[in-house]
Amino acid sequence: MLDAGCGTGENALHLASLGLSVLGVDVAETALAIARTKADDRGIEVAFVAADAFQLERLGRRFATVLDCGLFHTFDGDERPGYVASLASVTEHDGTLYVLCFSDDGPDPGPHPVSQQELRATFNPNTGWKIAAIEPDRVQTSYHDNGAPAWLATSKRIQTAGLL
Ligand SMILES: C[S@@+](CC[C@H](N)C(=O)[O-])C[C@H]1O[C@@H](n2cnc3c(N)ncnc32)[C@H](O)[C@@H]1O
Repeated sequence: MLDAGCGTGENALHLASLGLSVLGVDVAETALAIARTKADDRGIEVAFVAADAFQLERLGRRFATVLDCGLFHTFDGDERPGYVASLASVTEHDGTLYVLCFSDDGPDPGPHPVSQQELRATFNPNTGWKIAAIEPDRVQTSYHDNGAPAWLATSKRIQTAGLL
């Protein structure tokens, strides 16, 4: 599976510790270096490489499962189509994408909260996706005691004319 915007790798490391084959990518070399050190220290086999989430096709690979924890909500509305197309380019047909993002539903939201409508407008058959579920969740931050309100959006990669 692919962890897009893996940061210092906690999610990728957790998933790899469960036996999954995981690639974590990020643009921040400092974060990747910390993630690699954690993997060595914990004896967990997981690859961390530098890659731009807008150009994931450059990885030359496809994944059955893709995770975005805290990346999607950092992008402006006009950046989302390029990101979503990049995600589609590396997700196998019928593969699953999990996006955990700040939500607009609840007190003390994180910055740039996302609405369900925005998620549905972004991940749809025209962009190669079918949303399977959007569930309320929490996302940990360094400035919320019990996390911030979040959406966990689960989308399936579907075949769309014009998209490979
Ligand atoms: C809020 S952090 C989330 C980190 C990690 N997923 C987690 O849950 O702890 C967002 C991460 O996305 C990375 N990022 C931002 N823009 C990116 C891009 N265009 N391509 C790849 N990673 C990016 C940042 O460097 C940062 O590590």
